[in-house]
Amino acid sequence: MRALPFRFEQNTFWLLDQRKLPFEEVWVPCRSAQETAQAIKAMVVRGAPAIGVTAAYGMVLAHLAGEDPAEADRVLRRSRPTAVNLFYALDRMKPHWGSLEASLREARAIWAEVEETEQAIAQHGARVLRGQVLTHCNTGPLATGGYGTALGAIIEAYRQGRVSHVWVDETRPYLQGARLTAYELQKAGVPATLICDNMAAHLMAQKKVDAVVVGTDRMAMNGDFANKIGTYALAILARHHGIPFYPALPLSSVDPRLESGAQIPIEERSAEEVTTLRGQPIAPPGFPAAHPAFDLTPHTLITGIITEKGVLYPPFDEALRAALGV
Ligand code: MRU
Repeated sequence: MRALPFRFEQNTFWLLDQRKLPFEEVWVPCRSAQETAQAIKAMVVRGAPAIGVTAAYGMVLAHLAGEDPAEADRVLRRSRPTAVNLFYALDRMKPHWGSLEASLREARAIWAEVEETEQAIAQHGARVLRGQVLTHCNTGPLATGGYGTALGAIIEAYRQGRVSHVWVDETRPYLQGARLTAYELQKAGVPATLICDNMAAHLMAQKKVDAVVVGTDRMAMNGDFANKIGTYALAILARHHGIPFYPALPLSSVDPRLESGAQIPIEERSAEEVTTLRGQPIAPPGFPAAHPAFDLTPHTLITGIITEKGVLYPPFDEALRAALGV
């Protein structure tokens, strides 16, 4: 059974608080766009497609709460900068600002499309994955509201008997791998082992990794992409060891306005998220820490891009243009 990150009930958008998983299942109510933006910023909900759906419902809540739609749109756009799905969803909501019925219909459609595209991503991804796969961050139902992107493909490949085991990067500093991917793989009954982020090279050298598959927060038209900090290092390691490396994403995570990844904004989060672990200090008080939340992987390190329209191969600019029809 997959756990979904949200539900819309009685004019309230309820978010499963991902900061508390897997230890507690607490639901947080959002009744306005302001509250929704705050929840996205605080990472009550996270993952590119999931924050897109949440932002869409944030615009529905703006209507219900009597908030100014332009102001609601602005505050939601400011919540997190890197995942393009947030902006994609808000762009789609804009023509429907004037009508509650139409905005609710559009938000529902955005969510339904997540489910549909992810079923296709899982099928296409399952065809290229095999043996022992390594993944980073959390890309399952909690990150999307559907079946997941990279994790959806992994689970489908396991069901088809292609994938035998998953290495789960813990994903410092937010521990999306340890807390959320481990939780989802356990629920799905897929054999998996948690590793610290710095163990991947060792496992690859021991020939214990047959493929690496990750999610994507924003991909430029040449295939460069931003994903959770640590993804770039995995891509370099995979290339060094001759291991296939795949990002998995819906085409709504591609930003058609960007030629290359250099233009993708990278979120900087607070140093405190690095100097503490679940509220406990792990460094001398006041010690400086850096916290880029995402990194950029150049398209040259990608084997294939797993999308709902199939697995795309180089040259990626041509393949992405054809898939998007632009
Ligand atoms: O900071 P997060 O937890 O929102 O980052 C999430 C990721 O980096 C995921 O890999 C990405 O959103 C793809 S989700 C299907």
